Amino acid sequence: EKGGYPHFMLKEIFEQPEALRKTVAPRIKDGLPDLQVEAFTDELIRSVGKIHIVACGTASYAGMIGKCALEKLVRVPAEVCIASEFRYNDPILAPDDLVIVISQSGETADTLAALRLAKEKGIHTMAIVNVVGSSIAREADSIIYTWAGPEIAVASTKAYTVQMSVMYLIALKMALVRGTLTEEEVRRYCEIIQAMPEKQQDILAQSDTCQYFASRFQNAEHLFYIGRGLDYALSMEGSLKLKEISYIHSEAYAAGELKHGTISLITDHVPVVAVATQEHIYEKTISNIKEVTTRGAKVLLVVNDRFEVKDDIADYILRLPTTEDVLMPLLAVIPLQLFAYYTAVLRGCDVDKPRNLAKSVTVE
Ligand code: M6R
Repeated sequence: EKGGYPHFMLKEIFEQPEALRKTVAPRIKDGLPDLQVEAFTDELIRSVGKIHIVACGTASYAGMIGKCALEKLVRVPAEVCIASEFRYNDPILAPDDLVIVISQSGETADTLAALRLAKEKGIHTMAIVNVVGSSIAREADSIIYTWAGPEIAVASTKAYTVQMSVMYLIALKMALVRGTLTEEEVRRYCEIIQAMPEKQQDILAQSDTCQYFASRFQNAEHLFYIGRGLDYALSMEGSLKLKEISYIHSEAYAAGELKHGTISLITDHVPVVAVATQEHIYEKTISNIKEVTTRGAKVLLVVNDRFEVKDDIADYILRLPTTEDVLMPLLAVIPLQLFAYYTAVLRGCDVDKPRNLAKSVTVE
């Protein structure tokens, strides 16, 4: 049932191009986004004031990528709330707000409660869910299914990728209706997203390199992930993946924030994974890398191949195929997943069933 892979997690990492294809293909018609959600009318899209994205764990990190995409492409304010916080914090919701909940299982207790709260307040709710007919899917006003297929490993991988892709499609649809992008621009983005599975495949072909990097970092007790903007959002997901399955303590930090305290933790025993895929902040992240290498940290840099990186900037460099900056997370997540996976395997961990964790958290 693992299709020849040693673990479900690895199988699911390799299934990402296919999951992306299946999720995106039915939602692009004549080159433009067509979400096939009746209730998400153009009128509703035009009237949205603010978007609240509510989810737990990895789904919330997909939401962070979505927030960045919505703010960049649609210029609509968006915020991400962890469901267990949202439900008890008396959230400020206006009638023209939109609540988007994201959940692989569709059964996460806190996410379901958050959805119910928003509905009670008369806010339009949209759910991005992987399991057909699950509680969240049944109760939301609008539902967009991700077609990742069953995800068995506790660590979420392919579900995250397709959640991001749906967030991009929502942003593109909204940008088209609200006129923040031209039709031509939206078409271009759609084309690029449709071509993304092949680029993902190219990265998967480098899995041996990720395994090698993992072997260099496997004995760390603590590790930092740094990045800015979308790269910071992605760092959070990379860090969660590593913690969850390898039990190495790690933290994701906005690269510019290190010198406000955390850099005191950096030593030659605390390696750093740096993510730099965004052109407008690339040089800034490079400066932050220099700050940590000066303090002895070994650095693995995951970088957009378009940038001219000097080989001596980091100890290990993984170059990613390039695409539109805003879409880079669809590619950059893969080496982070593979790095976490191989690190856990090398440490002898139970990758698919990490201690203390359940696949679906149906109690709060
Ligand atoms: O089923 P959900 O997407 O609602 O689950 C949310 C989180 O419990 C889940 O993403 C969790 O963080 C994963 N184990 C992370 O890999």
